[in-house]
Amino acid sequence: MILITGGAGFIGANFVLDWLAQNDEPVVNLDKLTYAGNPETLASLEGDGRHVFVQGDIGDSKLVDRLLAEHKPRAVVNFAAESHVDRSIHGPEDFVETNVLGTFRLLESVRGHWSALPADQKAAFRFLHVSTDEVYGSLSATDPAFTEENKYEPNSPYSASKAASDHLVRAWHHTYGLPVVTTNCSNNYGPFHFPEKLIPLMIVNALAGKALPVYGDGMQVRDWLYVKDHCSAIRRVLEGGRLGETYNVGGWNEKPNIEIVNTVCALLDELRPRADGKSYREQISYVTDRPGHDRRYAIDARKLERELGWKPAETFDTGIRKTVEWYLANGEWVANVQSGAYREWVEKQYDAELAAAGKAGA
Ligand code: NAD
Ligand code: DAU
Repeated sequence: MILITGGAGFIGANFVLDWLAQNDEPVVNLDKLTYAGNPETLASLEGDGRHVFVQGDIGDSKLVDRLLAEHKPRAVVNFAAESHVDRSIHGPEDFVETNVLGTFRLLESVRGHWSALPADQKAAFRFLHVSTDEVYGSLSATDPAFTEENKYEPNSPYSASKAASDHLVRAWHHTYGLPVVTTNCSNNYGPFHFPEKLIPLMIVNALAGKALPVYGDGMQVRDWLYVKDHCSAIRRVLEGGRLGETYNVGGWNEKPNIEIVNTVCALLDELRPRADGKSYREQISYVTDRPGHDRRYAIDARKLERELGWKPAETFDTGIRKTVEWYLANGEWVANVQSGAYREWVEKQYDAELAAAGKAGA
């Protein structure tokens, strides 16, 4: 039995689905179901006794203590977080609450559980903390990619809160001996990605005939990894990662944002051409830049390859095609997540500006 937190979100749900497709070890899935958590993503597991879903907060110590005592997991994988940089800029408190305080409380619950285990189970136990490359800050065009030796220089409220959580995890290992490993991954993309993030937002807006908002000059660089490859890396680190170590995870796919948007448009032009015969590129609209926008991220994933033999299975070309095809085939999933809190927030952020620029509903 393993305990997954945040397993109704984008990466966590992909992880749970892949895990149970590959082996029969049961999963307890603790997720608060914030706007980003979607039980519909896990619909294929309904009635599957290997998956126990619990709605709750990683910061609810009583609940987490009970789950640990009841299910006695051999490992905890912590995906739960507030994950969207733009939201962190406009409302940082939830990020401190979940990513910092929540991780602290989770660590304390796990420490209590782990301390009381018999020696053999104590030695085998793992706490894997899922983090981000954004903790390393921003690179210039000529800097080498981030290694695990890079200094932490987080720039956004999101990355600062993730950096704080990474430091807590590190300290719980050094001070209390908790058997932890941390992964720092680059930008993921793939099925079930919430359409507030760049790639799914561009696909969904393009199909809806709306503007494709590109921040600033669109030349910011991100390093893209297909989500299933991130999941395989986490499984590898869970089984073989050295205690107290951090492992960078990335796909060697550095691309400027505008190239990503153009690629999405070209795939849609091929797979679902616009009725008027024009390219979806017509919908691209440059908008005000994100405050404090990091210019470039790039991951050096050689440690993970050298120590644990991990390599991504997808190239960007294969992964992005699969992703666009998935969104074309899953319009209902998209429609369902576009209601409620998410919609209100997006409207507030972009629609006023785009309407003013005469681009809304382009
Ligand atoms: P997401 O926003 O899609 O999902 C987060 C999930 O956590 C949601 O299901 C949400 O309901 C749940 N959650 C939030 N607060 C919670 C709380 N207090 N208690 C329990 N559950 C809570 O995020 P994601 O993109 O799947 O990211 C998962 C993890 O991976 C995060 O820790 C994120 O920082 C990290 N990460 C993401 C990326 C990426 O590109 N998406 C890259 C590197 C690292
Ligand atoms: O690097 C890993 C991180 O990647 C994760 O830790 C975060 O959880 C995840 O959200 C992601 O952060 P980014 O800020 O890089 O992702 P996002 O999809 O929000 O933006 C990707 C790039 O695209 C970024 O440079 C901002 C730009 N962008 C984004 C949106 C939503 C746009 O130009 N227009 C947009 O509408």
